[in-house]
Amino acid sequence: MDILQSIDRNKLPKHIAIIMDGNGRWAKERGKDRVYGHHEGVLSVREIVNGCAELGISYLTLYAFSTENWNRPKEEVNALMELLVNTIRKEVDELKKNNVRLHVIGDFASLPEICQKELNEAKELTASNTGLNLILALSYSSRWEITEAAKKIAQDAAKGILKPEDINDTVFQSYLNTASFPDPELMIRTSGEHRISNYLLYQLAYAELYFTPVHWPEFRKPQLYEALLNYQQRERRFGKTSEQIQTNNPQHV
Ligand code: FPP
Repeated sequence: MDILQSIDRNKLPKHIAIIMDGNGRWAKERGKDRVYGHHEGVLSVREIVNGCAELGISYLTLYAFSTENWNRPKEEVNALMELLVNTIRKEVDELKKNNVRLHVIGDFASLPEICQKELNEAKELTASNTGLNLILALSYSSRWEITEAAKKIAQDAAKGILKPEDINDTVFQSYLNTASFPDPELMIRTSGEHRISNYLLYQLAYAELYFTPVHWPEFRKPQLYEALLNYQQRERRFGKTSEQIQTNNPQHV
């Protein structure tokens, strides 16, 4: 049977988060430079965004540039920023056509002005779209996000807006960049590394983790479907017993 037909549309995750790894290695294996790998990686971004939109996934978060990525050689950082600007500029019509809404998480102010401008325009142009929410994590790291949240909570407590005894999980989440999105149920990392690399550490608390040796430029719709099938075969217990889960969700046994 076709792999797409094997996917149970009633058991899809609402939110998928991806660490798009392996562009550099993929390019090197072909005797090309790393930037070539990033260009090919954009084709995968395009296909995975379309694949998620077609399936009716509500949220897709892509780790496009981490806080730590600023430490890469200057030429690679510049090439990545340029690629980001050009891709957003080129793809915004497609996003509009496919009803995709663009969001950005991360230290927005640290991005070059031209990136900020392009992203702001694309965010505005897609703001009324109601299909897939595409969240780009840019200049993002979880420790940065959590530290910023702690800072803002402390400031609000000092101003008397928030009582320390009222701080709970829900309040804390409302201070994160991801406040308006549900937590991802599935996190995919390509290219064989088994790490989370400072990505959505708070939000991935109960996520299913899926690692594949495939490099990002070769992660396309069939590989996405494979990951979804794998996810659907897992039992999500949230600390409960298997028996409790099966009694509450007999259709998911
Ligand atoms: C990881 O591969 C990939 C990145 C750091 C950048 C990801 C960016 C893109 C796919 C293109 C731009 C994205 C958008 C949304 C337009 P790596 O370079 O770390 O690979 P390696 O581990 O093999 O060196």
